[in-house]
Amino acid sequence: MELKLKNKRVLIQGSSSGLGLACAISFAIEGARVALCGRDEKRLKEAQKQVQGSIYIICDLDQPGAGAQLVKDATKTLGGIDILMTNTGGPPKGDFLDLKREDWVKGFDRLWLSAVESIHAALPFMKSQKWGRILLSTSSAAKEPIAHLTVSNSLRAGLLGLMKTLSQEVAKEGITVNALLPGYTRTERLAELGVAESEIVKNIPAGRLADPQEYAALAAFLGSELAGYITGQAIACDGGLIRGL
Ligand SMILES: NC(=O)c1ccc[n+]([C@@H]2O[C@H](COP(=O)([O-])OP(=O)(O)OC[C@H]3O[C@@H](n4cnc5c(N)ncnc54)[C@H](OP(=O)(O)O)[C@@H]3O)[C@@H](O)[C@H]2O)c1
Repeated sequence: MELKLKNKRVLIQGSSSGLGLACAISFAIEGARVALCGRDEKRLKEAQKQVQGSIYIICDLDQPGAGAQLVKDATKTLGGIDILMTNTGGPPKGDFLDLKREDWVKGFDRLWLSAVESIHAALPFMKSQKWGRILLSTSSAAKEPIAHLTVSNSLRAGLLGLMKTLSQEVAKEGITVNALLPGYTRTERLAELGVAESEIVKNIPAGRLADPQEYAALAAFLGSELAGYITGQAIACDGGLIRGL
């Protein structure tokens, strides 16, 4: 299948490892020009070696204004952004009574405002060329809450409301907006959670973790020309984890 991604300009946030890096590799294999982002230059340099023809921008998406600045920098270097994938590290963990106000603020800055600022900065260019793809990388937790991840469960579900609203606002302008919901995928972040793999897979109908490449294949398709009539959707790559209809 020809995805028609050749020379598309793609900004993938949080892409020096894990899901973001896998998506970056997948777009680059299809001939897209990719901008990587992360906080650590050493990790970005390593990632760059795996993503043919990519550039990288050092950026801490937790900081106010960082999402907008990142889009500005990537636009300058690539000459525009056709496809934007929002993605960053997970928010603070904890049950409701364990969480302090600052945990919610940190989660909101990280997951919400970085996405809002980036999309806000990228949209005018997409509108001007009547073509764009916005992919919000979230989590299966947006639809099916995960125990002890109160901030993540709450804010990621809210992002689906943003995605749906925006998708309707820009649909006539050739811009699609979709959310991707990864299930348990073999990355550094998953290892950090410190839960045994055998315990995790017990609850997954597919009986295994996802490979990041499986998630990346979904991202490349939703970013492609062919996916132009798919918008306002929250699509999981979760081995059947989400039980709801
Ligand atoms: N893996 C899973 O099973 C899974 C499932 C559902 C949802 N998720 C969510 O998906 C997201 C990515 O997860 P992952 O598994 O790919 O994690 P990962 O392997 O730890 O990768 C996270 C990437 O984001 C970058 N990053 C983190 N904080 C950042 C910041 N403030 N500013 C800029 N870049 C930042 C990291 O680089 P630096 O640290 O060097 O900045 C790294 O490149 C997380 O929000 C996670 O909660 C993951």
